[in-house]
Amino acid sequence: MPYVPALLEKIANRTAKVGVVGLGYVGLPLAVEFAQAGFSVIGIDLDAGKTDRLNRGESYIQDVPSSVVGPLVKAGRLSATTDPSAVRDFDTINICVPTPLRKTKDPDLSFVVSAVEAIAGHLHAGMLVILESTTYPGTTEEVVQPILEATGLRAGVDFFLAFSPERVDPGNATWTTKNVPKVVGGLTPECTRLAGTLYRSSIDTVVEVSSPKVAEMVKLLENTFRAVNIGMVNELALMCDRLGLSVWEVVGAAATKPFGFMPFYPGPGLGGHCIPIDPFYLSWKVKEVGFEARFIELAGQVNGAMPHHVVDKIVDALNVHGKAVNGAGILVLGVAYKRDIDDVRESPALDVMALLMKKGGRVTYHDPYVPLIAGSHWPGGVDMLSVALTPEAMATADCVVILTDHRTFDIPEIVTHSRLVVDTRNAITTHHPNVFKLGAPVPKQ
Ligand SMILES: NC(=O)c1ccc[n+]([C@@H]2O[C@H](COP(=O)([O-])OP(=O)(O)OC[C@H]3O[C@@H](n4cnc5c(N)ncnc54)[C@H](O)[C@@H]3O)[C@@H](O)[C@H]2O)c1
Repeated sequence: MPYVPALLEKIANRTAKVGVVGLGYVGLPLAVEFAQAGFSVIGIDLDAGKTDRLNRGESYIQDVPSSVVGPLVKAGRLSATTDPSAVRDFDTINICVPTPLRKTKDPDLSFVVSAVEAIAGHLHAGMLVILESTTYPGTTEEVVQPILEATGLRAGVDFFLAFSPERVDPGNATWTTKNVPKVVGGLTPECTRLAGTLYRSSIDTVVEVSSPKVAEMVKLLENTFRAVNIGMVNELALMCDRLGLSVWEVVGAAATKPFGFMPFYPGPGLGGHCIPIDPFYLSWKVKEVGFEARFIELAGQVNGAMPHHVVDKIVDALNVHGKAVNGAGILVLGVAYKRDIDDVRESPALDVMALLMKKGGRVTYHDPYVPLIAGSHWPGGVDMLSVALTPEAMATADCVVILTDHRTFDIPEIVTHSRLVVDTRNAITTHHPNVFKLGAPVPKQ
């Protein structure tokens, strides 16, 4: 097969033209790694705002500094376009488009399908196509392969196809696209070899598995593992609440066991583009084979109910202070779905705020990473701007609620100035009569 040695050589000498479709949290860091490895990389995205910024040498992803992007763009190693016909010049292409859920919790593969259809329009012999978007086992072979083969080219013969899940952890400075091992499963041994070789050029460790399906399932195992364990510890928090125990103390002490235990921590619910969504790709798929994924469903129910428990905690805390939630001034601290990042997708903070507003709470928020929340992007339906975190803002609020524990928050200041705090993240580790915690007894007054 002449294509394999030719592509291996192009990868080895960095003359392969590398394409990345979808330049978001996953695609941009990956494109940067390939460019840093010496390839000439072109990214394709539908969003002209992103491609324009990238072509100006600016990054719009928090973990990727403009100081890294700028020189790559200037050197001509990284550029972006909205034009799908750029595919015709690519030797390899990584697809990193969103895979959300429909309202019914069924997979929404429309972004993958339209990206692959656009690629099919310009597919040529000898090309390597790798899907990175998280999805159910079987997508690469059942959805991607038929669209590409409709061109008349055969996967594994005329072009090469693989799946490799992305494991990026936004905000994690230790584990990055470069040093997190990359799992790869190709349709044929040649597909795996080519995809593995491409990644080894840019990523420290590559783990080859026997098929795209295995690689797809690996990602869903990882994210289901987190969703289920977080669900379990969230339920433990509710048990501790009833039993008058602190779940934080319990988990902290259990975590001293040097084997057989891994700590997970409770919180106001799941957020982001992965953990609340991906397990439902698996439960949907196994329904096809008559299997009910009970752990996934249960974890979804427990985690999905957490914003309601947080609201109950706030109502109870206000009650201890002789106040009703209706009319109370509530200042929420942190709306991103996790610490030190700017992503509010699926953030449970938005659900908590919407529920409080529905009960008549006068809700404001502060988040150093999220200057505004557009009404169209959250269930509260109104545009909101982050307020300044001043001593006055804290002192005038009837309740201050910590929903995301950004490291920039000055905890002693918050405790000093606030009349009442509900802490859902164990951000405040000292006892204080005005600090109520999720999964912990009511403080002694
Ligand atoms: N964000 C994470 O932490 C993370 C981690 C691991 C895996 N993933 C998975 O990676 C995939 C991408 O996630 P993300 O967070 O990077 O999403 P994102 O929304 O940040 O980026 C996706 C990009 O794709 C673009 N796009 C959509 N359709 C397109 C098309 N047809 N052609 C070209 N561009 C198109 C969008 O404009 C957007 O810029 C998802 O499957 C997600 O589950 C995400």
